[in-house]
Amino acid sequence: MSDILNNKRLLLIIGGGIAAYKVLELIRRLKERNVRIRPILTKGGAQFVTPLSVSALAEEKVYQDIFSLTDEAEMGHIRLSRETDLVLVAPATADLMAKMAAGIADDLATTTLLATDKPVLIAPSMNTMMWEHPATQRNLDRLQEDGIGIIQPGSGDLACGEVGAGRLAEVPDIIRTIENFFESRRAQSALTGKHVIVTAGPTHEAIDPVRYIANRSSGKQGYAIASALVDLGARVTLVSGPTALDCPDGVERINVETARDMNAAVDAALPADVAVCVAAVADWRTEGCAEQKIKKQGGGLPDLHLVENPDILRALSQKSERRPALVIGFAAETENVADHARAKRERKGCDWIVANNVSFSDGVSVMGGDTNAVLLITEEGELSWPEAGKDQIARQLAAEIEKKFRQQAEQEKK
Ligand code: C5P
Repeated sequence: MSDILNNKRLLLIIGGGIAAYKVLELIRRLKERNVRIRPILTKGGAQFVTPLSVSALAEEKVYQDIFSLTDEAEMGHIRLSRETDLVLVAPATADLMAKMAAGIADDLATTTLLATDKPVLIAPSMNTMMWEHPATQRNLDRLQEDGIGIIQPGSGDLACGEVGAGRLAEVPDIIRTIENFFESRRAQSALTGKHVIVTAGPTHEAIDPVRYIANRSSGKQGYAIASALVDLGARVTLVSGPTALDCPDGVERINVETARDMNAAVDAALPADVAVCVAAVADWRTEGCAEQKIKKQGGGLPDLHLVENPDILRALSQKSERRPALVIGFAAETENVADHARAKRERKGCDWIVANNVSFSDGVSVMGGDTNAVLLITEEGELSWPEAGKDQIARQLAAEIEKKFRQQAEQEKK
Protein backbone atom coordinates (compact mmCIF):
# COMPACT_ATOMS: atom_id res chain seq x y z
CA MET A 1 0.00 0.00 0.00
CA SER A 2 1.39 3.41 -0.93
CA ASP A 3 2.31 5.80 1.89
CA ILE A 4 1.20 8.84 -0.08
CA LEU A 5 -1.63 9.59 2.38
CA ASN A 6 0.59 9.38 5.44
CA ASN A 7 0.22 12.50 7.59
CA LYS A 8 -1.81 14.37 4.96
CA ARG A 9 -4.38 16.85 6.26
CA LEU A 10 -7.95 16.58 5.07
CA LEU A 11 -10.75 19.00 5.80
CA LEU A 12 -13.83 16.79 5.53
CA ILE A 13 -17.17 18.52 5.06
CA ILE A 14 -20.04 16.18 5.74
CA GLY A 15 -23.26 17.27 4.03
CA GLY A 16 -26.84 16.34 4.90
CA GLY A 17 -27.50 13.19 2.90
CA ILE A 18 -28.34 9.64 3.93
CA ALA A 19 -24.93 8.57 2.59
CA ALA A 20 -23.33 10.46 5.50
CA TYR A 21 -23.26 7.12 7.33
CA LYS A 22 -20.80 5.80 4.73
CA VAL A 23 -18.49 8.68 5.57
CA LEU A 24 -17.95 7.14 9.01
CA GLU A 25 -16.42 4.16 7.24
CA LEU A 26 -14.41 6.50 5.04
CA ILE A 27 -13.00 8.22 8.13
CA ARG A 28 -11.96 4.87 9.61
CA ARG A 29 -10.17 3.78 6.46
CA LEU A 30 -8.44 7.15 6.13
CA LYS A 31 -7.33 7.05 9.76
CA GLU A 32 -5.77 3.64 9.08
CA ARG A 33 -3.68 5.43 6.46
CA ASN A 34 -2.69 8.06 9.02
CA VAL A 35 -4.64 10.90 7.40
CA ARG A 36 -5.25 13.83 9.76
CA ILE A 37 -8.93 14.65 9.42
CA ARG A 38 -10.65 17.83 10.55
CA PRO A 39 -14.38 17.38 10.19
CA ILE A 40 -17.03 20.02 9.55
CA LEU A 41 -20.56 18.72 10.01
CA THR A 42 -23.38 20.69 8.38
CA LYS A 43 -26.73 21.08 10.10
CA GLY A 44 -28.18 18.57 7.62
CA GLY A 45 -25.24 16.22 8.11
CA ALA A 46 -25.89 16.18 11.86
CA GLN A 47 -29.38 14.77 11.14
CA PHE A 48 -27.74 11.64 9.76
CA VAL A 49 -24.58 11.15 11.84
CA THR A 50 -23.81 12.45 15.29
CA PRO A 51 -20.91 14.78 16.09
CA LEU A 52 -19.85 12.23 18.68
CA SER A 53 -19.35 9.40 16.19
CA VAL A 54 -17.54 11.66 13.74
CA SER A 55 -15.32 13.05 16.45
CA ALA A 56 -14.57 9.63 17.97
CA LEU A 57 -13.55 8.17 14.61
CA ALA A 58 -11.68 11.21 13.34
CA GLU A 59 -10.03 11.70 16.74
CA GLU A 60 -10.64 15.42 16.29
CA LYS A 61 -13.05 18.07 17.38
CA VAL A 62 -16.05 18.43 15.05
CA TYR A 63 -16.66 21.96 13.78
CA GLN A 64 -20.30 22.89 13.26
CA ASP A 65 -21.09 26.48 14.04
CA ILE A 66 -19.87 29.57 12.20
CA PHE A 67 -20.93 31.76 15.07
CA SER A 68 -19.41 29.70 17.87
CA LEU A 69 -17.25 32.09 19.83
CA THR A 70 -14.96 29.41 21.14
CA ASP A 71 -14.44 27.88 17.71
CA GLU A 72 -13.78 31.27 16.17
CA ALA A 73 -11.31 32.06 18.93
CA GLU A 74 -9.57 28.72 18.66
CA MET A 75 -9.96 27.94 14.98
CA GLY A 76 -11.96 30.22 12.70
CA HIS A 77 -13.21 29.36 9.22
CA ILE A 78 -10.17 31.00 7.65
CA ARG A 79 -7.73 28.81 9.54
CA LEU A 80 -9.89 25.75 8.93
CA SER A 81 -9.83 26.49 5.22
CA ARG A 82 -6.07 27.05 5.06
CA GLU A 83 -4.56 24.50 7.43
CA THR A 84 -5.26 21.53 5.24
CA ASP A 85 -3.86 19.90 2.13
CA LEU A 86 -7.21 19.07 0.58
CA VAL A 87 -10.90 19.74 1.17
CA LEU A 88 -13.33 16.87 0.58
CA VAL A 89 -17.09 17.34 0.58
CA ALA A 90 -18.84 14.01 1.16
CA PRO A 91 -21.68 13.56 0.69
CA ALA A 92 -22.05 16.64 -1.48
CA THR A 93 -25.80 17.25 -1.58
CA ALA A 94 -27.64 19.05 -4.40
CA ASP A 95 -28.08 21.97 -2.01
CA LEU A 96 -24.38 22.19 -1.11
CA MET A 97 -23.39 21.96 -4.76
CA ALA A 98 -25.83 24.75 -5.66
CA LYS A 99 -24.49 26.96 -2.91
CA MET A 100 -20.89 26.27 -3.92
CA ALA A 101 -21.67 27.03 -7.57
CA ALA A 102 -23.37 30.30 -6.62
CA GLY A 103 -20.73 31.32 -4.07
CA ILE A 104 -23.21 31.38 -1.20
CA ALA A 105 -21.62 31.41 2.26
CA ASP A 106 -24.32 31.07 4.90
CA ASP A 107 -22.89 28.50 7.30
CA LEU A 108 -19.50 27.19 8.42
CA ALA A 109 -19.17 24.65 5.58
CA THR A 110 -20.02 27.04 2.74
CA THR A 111 -18.03 29.92 4.24
CA THR A 112 -14.99 27.67 4.59
CA LEU A 113 -15.42 26.45 1.01
CA LEU A 114 -15.48 30.02 -0.24
CA ALA A 115 -12.48 31.02 1.87
CA THR A 116 -10.21 28.12 1.02
CA ASP A 117 -7.14 28.41 -1.16
CA LYS A 118 -6.74 24.63 -1.20
CA PRO A 119 -7.91 22.08 -3.78
CA VAL A 120 -11.48 20.82 -3.31
CA LEU A 121 -12.94 17.43 -4.21
CA ILE A 122 -16.65 16.67 -3.93
CA ALA A 123 -18.39 13.31 -3.79
CA PRO A 124 -22.02 13.99 -4.77
CA SER A 125 -24.84 11.83 -3.50
CA MET A 126 -28.57 12.30 -4.09
CA ASN A 127 -31.69 10.89 -5.68
CA THR A 128 -31.39 10.18 -9.43
CA MET A 129 -33.93 12.82 -10.45
CA MET A 130 -32.10 15.40 -8.37
CA TRP A 131 -28.74 14.36 -9.84
CA GLU A 132 -30.00 14.44 -13.42
CA HIS A 133 -31.94 17.68 -12.96
CA PRO A 134 -30.63 20.36 -15.34
CA ALA A 135 -30.03 22.67 -12.37
CA THR A 136 -27.72 20.16 -10.67
CA GLN A 137 -25.94 19.35 -13.93
CA ARG A 138 -25.51 23.07 -14.57
CA ASN A 139 -24.01 23.48 -11.10
CA LEU A 140 -21.76 20.48 -11.70
CA ASP A 141 -20.40 22.06 -14.91
CA ARG A 142 -19.83 25.33 -13.11
CA LEU A 143 -17.98 23.61 -10.26
CA GLN A 144 -15.75 21.76 -12.71
CA GLU A 145 -15.01 25.04 -14.50
CA ASP A 146 -14.02 26.45 -11.11
CA GLY A 147 -11.45 23.67 -10.80
CA ILE A 148 -13.29 21.50 -8.31
CA GLY A 149 -12.66 17.76 -8.65
CA ILE A 150 -15.72 15.51 -8.91
CA ILE A 151 -15.78 11.97 -7.53
CA GLN A 152 -18.56 10.67 -9.79
CA PRO A 153 -21.48 9.00 -8.03
CA GLY A 154 -22.27 5.39 -8.87
CA SER A 155 -25.51 3.82 -10.10
CA GLY A 156 -27.68 1.30 -8.33
CA ASP A 157 -30.22 1.03 -5.52
CA LEU A 158 -30.69 4.32 -3.77
CA ALA A 159 -31.68 4.75 -0.14
CA CYS A 160 -34.94 6.37 -1.27
CA GLY A 161 -36.01 3.12 -2.93
CA GLU A 162 -35.41 4.24 -6.51
CA VAL A 163 -32.73 2.85 -8.79
CA GLY A 164 -30.30 4.96 -10.84
CA ALA A 165 -27.35 7.32 -10.70
CA GLY A 166 -26.66 9.27 -7.53
CA ARG A 167 -25.13 6.79 -5.07
CA LEU A 168 -22.14 8.11 -3.16
CA ALA A 169 -18.97 6.65 -4.72
CA GLU A 170 -17.71 3.60 -2.82
CA VAL A 171 -15.22 4.26 0.00
CA PRO A 172 -12.25 2.58 -1.81
CA ASP A 173 -12.97 4.69 -4.91
CA ILE A 174 -12.99 7.89 -2.86
CA ILE A 175 -9.68 6.91 -1.27
CA ARG A 176 -8.16 6.08 -4.65
CA THR A 177 -9.18 9.50 -5.97
CA ILE A 178 -7.55 11.19 -2.98
CA GLU A 179 -4.38 9.13 -3.53
CA ASN A 180 -4.35 10.07 -7.22
CA PHE A 181 -4.67 13.70 -6.28
CA PHE A 182 -1.59 13.61 -4.01
CA GLU A 183 0.38 11.46 -6.45
CA SER A 184 -0.20 13.84 -9.33
CA ARG A 185 0.59 16.84 -7.13
CA ARG A 186 3.91 15.23 -6.24
CA ALA A 187 4.64 14.34 -9.86
CA GLN A 188 3.91 17.90 -11.05
CA SER A 189 5.99 19.58 -8.37
CA ALA A 190 9.01 21.54 -9.57
CA LEU A 191 10.92 20.00 -6.65
CA THR A 192 10.59 16.47 -7.99
CA GLY A 193 14.08 15.00 -8.07
CA LYS A 194 15.68 18.09 -6.53
CA HIS A 195 18.11 17.48 -3.67
CA VAL A 196 17.62 19.50 -0.51
CA ILE A 197 19.85 19.50 2.56
CA VAL A 198 18.11 20.48 5.79
CA THR A 199 20.01 21.00 9.03
CA ALA A 200 17.98 20.68 12.22
CA GLY A 201 18.14 20.45 15.99
CA PRO A 202 20.79 21.68 18.39
CA THR A 203 24.41 20.68 18.48
CA HIS A 204 26.14 19.30 21.57
CA GLU A 205 29.63 20.57 22.19
CA ALA A 206 31.35 18.38 24.73
CA ILE A 207 33.19 20.12 27.58
CA ASP A 208 34.22 16.89 29.26
CA PRO A 209 32.85 13.30 29.18
CA VAL A 210 29.62 14.34 30.98
CA ARG A 211 29.00 17.99 30.19
CA TYR A 212 28.23 19.82 27.00
CA ILE A 213 27.11 23.18 25.60
CA ALA A 214 23.67 22.99 23.97
CA ASN A 215 20.48 24.99 23.50
CA ARG A 216 16.69 24.59 23.63
CA SER A 217 16.18 23.61 19.98
CA SER A 218 13.90 20.56 19.62
CA GLY A 219 14.41 20.05 15.88
CA LYS A 220 10.64 20.19 15.26
CA GLN A 221 10.73 23.02 12.73
CA GLY A 222 13.56 21.51 10.70
CA TYR A 223 12.00 18.03 10.72
CA ALA A 224 8.66 19.49 9.59
CA ILE A 225 10.42 21.29 6.73
CA ALA A 226 12.18 18.08 5.67
CA SER A 227 8.85 16.27 5.65
CA ALA A 228 7.03 19.02 3.70
CA LEU A 229 9.77 19.02 1.06
CA VAL A 230 9.53 15.23 0.62
CA ASP A 231 5.79 15.70 0.10
CA LEU A 232 6.62 17.97 -2.80
CA GLY A 233 8.85 15.35 -4.39
CA ALA A 234 12.26 16.53 -3.16
CA ARG A 235 15.05 14.15 -2.13
CA VAL A 236 15.90 15.32 1.35
CA THR A 237 19.04 14.79 3.40
CA LEU A 238 18.37 15.82 6.98
CA VAL A 239 21.54 16.52 8.94
CA SER A 240 20.30 16.42 12.49
CA GLY A 241 21.80 17.23 15.85
CA PRO A 242 20.60 15.21 18.87
CA THR A 243 16.75 15.27 19.06
CA ALA A 244 14.01 13.01 20.38
CA LEU A 245 12.19 12.98 17.03
CA ASP A 246 11.55 10.11 14.62
CA CYS A 247 12.99 10.48 11.16
CA PRO A 248 10.17 11.62 8.82
CA ASP A 249 9.13 9.09 6.15
CA GLY A 250 11.11 9.29 2.96
CA VAL A 251 13.89 11.41 4.46
CA GLU A 252 17.52 10.32 4.70
CA ARG A 253 18.80 11.35 8.11
CA ILE A 254 22.41 11.76 9.11
CA ASN A 255 22.85 12.06 12.87
CA VAL A 256 25.56 14.33 14.19
CA GLU A 257 26.53 15.77 17.56
CA THR A 258 28.77 18.76 17.10
CA ALA A 259 28.86 21.77 14.78
CA ARG A 260 32.01 20.43 13.18
CA ASP A 261 30.33 17.05 12.51
CA MET A 262 27.33 18.89 11.06
CA ASN A 263 29.55 20.97 8.83
CA ALA A 264 31.34 17.88 7.54
CA ALA A 265 28.06 16.01 6.98
CA VAL A 266 26.58 18.94 5.03
CA ASP A 267 29.71 19.13 2.90
CA ALA A 268 29.60 15.40 2.23
CA ALA A 269 25.93 15.64 1.21
CA LEU A 270 26.67 18.21 -1.54
CA PRO A 271 25.84 18.84 -4.32
CA ALA A 272 22.35 20.06 -3.54
CA ASP A 273 19.84 22.36 -5.21
CA VAL A 274 18.67 23.85 -1.92
CA ALA A 275 20.04 24.08 1.61
CA VAL A 276 17.78 25.02 4.50
CA CYS A 277 19.83 25.68 7.62
CA VAL A 278 17.37 25.40 10.46
CA ALA A 279 19.75 23.95 13.04
CA ALA A 280 20.51 25.98 16.13
CA VAL A 281 24.23 25.42 15.86
CA ALA A 282 26.18 26.24 19.01
CA ASP A 283 28.26 29.30 18.24
CA TRP A 284 31.08 28.25 20.51
CA ARG A 285 32.75 25.14 21.88
CA THR A 286 35.46 24.76 24.44
CA GLU A 287 38.92 24.48 23.07
CA GLY A 288 39.34 20.72 23.30
CA CYS A 289 37.28 18.32 25.38
CA ALA A 290 38.72 17.35 28.78
CA GLU A 291 39.53 13.65 28.87
CA GLN A 292 38.31 13.27 32.46
CA LYS A 293 35.38 14.92 34.21
CA ILE A 294 36.50 18.36 35.30
CA LYS A 295 36.63 18.47 39.11
CA LYS A 296 35.58 21.36 41.32
CA GLN A 297 38.71 23.15 42.33
CA GLY A 298 38.17 24.30 45.92
CA GLY A 299 36.48 27.60 45.05
CA GLY A 300 38.36 28.21 41.81
CA LEU A 301 36.46 28.18 38.52
CA PRO A 302 37.56 26.03 35.60
CA ASP A 303 39.07 27.88 32.72
CA LEU A 304 36.71 27.09 29.85
CA HIS A 305 38.33 28.76 26.93
CA LEU A 306 35.80 29.12 24.13
CA VAL A 307 36.54 29.02 20.43
CA GLU A 308 34.20 29.72 17.53
CA ASN A 309 32.41 26.95 15.65
CA PRO A 310 32.27 26.82 11.85
CA ASP A 311 29.35 28.80 10.45
CA ILE A 312 27.71 26.26 8.17
CA LEU A 313 25.21 28.65 6.61
CA ARG A 314 27.84 31.25 5.84
CA ALA A 315 30.22 28.69 4.39
CA LEU A 316 27.49 27.26 2.15
CA SER A 317 26.38 30.71 1.02
CA GLN A 318 29.87 31.80 0.11
CA LYS A 319 31.03 28.70 -1.69
CA SER A 320 32.45 29.43 -5.11
CA GLU A 321 31.85 25.87 -6.24
CA ARG A 322 28.90 23.61 -5.47
CA ARG A 323 26.89 26.41 -3.86
CA PRO A 324 23.25 25.29 -3.73
CA ALA A 325 21.10 27.46 -6.03
CA LEU A 326 18.99 28.48 -3.06
CA VAL A 327 20.44 28.82 0.44
CA ILE A 328 18.02 29.58 3.26
CA GLY A 329 18.95 30.53 6.79
CA PHE A 330 16.97 31.04 9.96
CA ALA A 331 17.32 33.99 12.27
CA ALA A 332 16.31 33.29 15.83
CA GLU A 333 16.11 36.68 17.47
CA THR A 334 14.80 38.02 20.74
CA GLU A 335 14.45 41.68 19.69
CA ASN A 336 14.27 43.85 16.52
CA VAL A 337 13.59 40.67 14.60
CA ALA A 338 13.18 42.15 11.12
CA ASP A 339 16.18 44.48 11.26
CA HIS A 340 18.51 41.87 12.65
CA ALA A 341 17.29 39.33 10.13
CA ARG A 342 17.83 41.65 7.15
CA ALA A 343 21.34 42.35 8.39
CA LYS A 344 21.96 38.65 8.88
CA ARG A 345 20.92 37.90 5.29
CA GLU A 346 23.55 40.34 4.05
CA ARG A 347 26.20 39.16 6.46
CA LYS A 348 25.80 35.48 5.73
CA GLY A 349 25.25 35.88 2.01
CA CYS A 350 22.27 33.54 1.94
CA ASP A 351 19.33 34.05 -0.42
CA TRP A 352 16.43 33.85 2.02
CA ILE A 353 16.13 34.31 5.76
CA VAL A 354 13.29 32.99 7.87
CA ALA A 355 13.14 35.21 10.93
CA ASN A 356 11.39 34.33 14.15
CA ASN A 357 11.15 35.76 17.60
CA VAL A 358 12.33 33.14 20.06
CA SER A 359 11.88 35.16 23.22
CA PHE A 360 9.61 33.71 25.87
CA SER A 361 5.98 34.80 25.81
CA ASP A 362 3.74 33.43 28.56
CA GLY A 363 6.57 31.11 29.46
CA VAL A 364 6.44 29.38 26.06
CA SER A 365 9.34 29.68 23.68
CA VAL A 366 9.36 28.99 19.94
CA MET A 367 12.42 26.88 20.70
CA GLY A 368 11.01 23.53 21.72
CA GLY A 369 7.39 24.69 21.24
CA ASP A 370 4.90 23.56 18.61
CA THR A 371 4.09 26.87 16.94
CA ASN A 372 5.99 29.57 15.20
CA ALA A 373 5.34 32.95 13.57
CA VAL A 374 7.83 34.05 10.97
CA LEU A 375 8.93 36.71 8.55
CA LEU A 376 10.35 35.36 5.29
CA ILE A 377 12.86 37.74 3.74
CA THR A 378 13.76 37.01 0.12
CA GLU A 379 15.49 38.90 -2.64
CA GLU A 380 12.05 39.96 -3.82
CA GLY A 381 10.45 41.14 -0.61
CA GLU A 382 9.05 40.01 2.71
CA LEU A 383 6.21 37.74 3.69
CA SER A 384 4.83 37.66 7.20
CA TRP A 385 3.18 34.43 8.38
CA PRO A 386 1.13 34.65 11.58
CA GLU A 387 1.48 32.12 14.39
CA ALA A 388 0.68 28.61 13.23
CA GLY A 389 1.80 25.04 13.83
CA LYS A 390 5.39 24.37 12.86
CA ASP A 391 4.19 21.92 10.21
CA GLN A 392 1.97 24.62 8.69
CA ILE A 393 4.91 27.03 8.55
CA ALA A 394 6.99 24.23 7.02
CA ARG A 395 4.42 23.63 4.27
CA GLN A 396 4.27 27.33 3.50
CA LEU A 397 8.04 27.51 3.19
CA ALA A 398 8.16 24.35 1.05
CA ALA A 399 5.47 25.85 -1.21
CA GLU A 400 7.52 29.05 -1.62
CA ILE A 401 10.61 27.02 -2.52
CA GLU A 402 8.60 25.02 -5.03
CA LYS A 403 7.18 28.23 -6.52
CA LYS A 404 10.66 29.65 -7.01
CA PHE A 405 11.83 26.55 -8.90
CA ARG A 406 8.62 26.46 -10.96
CA GLN A 407 9.02 30.10 -11.97
CA GLN A 408 12.64 29.46 -12.90
CA ALA A 409 11.69 26.44 -15.02
CA GLU A 410 8.98 28.51 -16.76
CA GLN A 411 11.46 31.29 -17.49
CA GLU A 412 13.98 28.86 -18.91
CA LYS A 413 11.29 27.49 -21.23
CA LYS A 414 10.66 30.96 -22.69
O1 C5P B 1 24.38 33.66 13.42
P1 C5P B 1 23.16 32.95 13.85
O2 C5P B 1 23.42 31.73 14.68
O3 C5P B 1 22.12 33.81 14.46
O4 C5P B 1 22.50 32.45 12.44
C1 C5P B 1 21.44 31.58 12.38
C2 C5P B 1 21.45 30.85 11.06
O5 C5P B 1 22.76 30.41 10.76
C3 C5P B 1 20.61 29.59 11.10
O6 C5P B 1 20.17 29.37 9.79
C4 C5P B 1 21.62 28.53 11.52
O7 C5P B 1 21.24 27.24 11.09
C5 C5P B 1 22.86 29.00 10.82
N1 C5P B 1 24.11 28.71 11.52
C6 C5P B 1 24.98 27.78 11.00
N2 C5P B 1 26.18 27.53 11.64
C7 C5P B 1 26.51 28.20 12.76
C8 C5P B 1 25.63 29.17 13.30
C9 C5P B 1 24.44 29.39 12.66
O8 C5P B 1 24.68 27.16 9.98
N3 C5P B 1 27.64 27.96 13.35
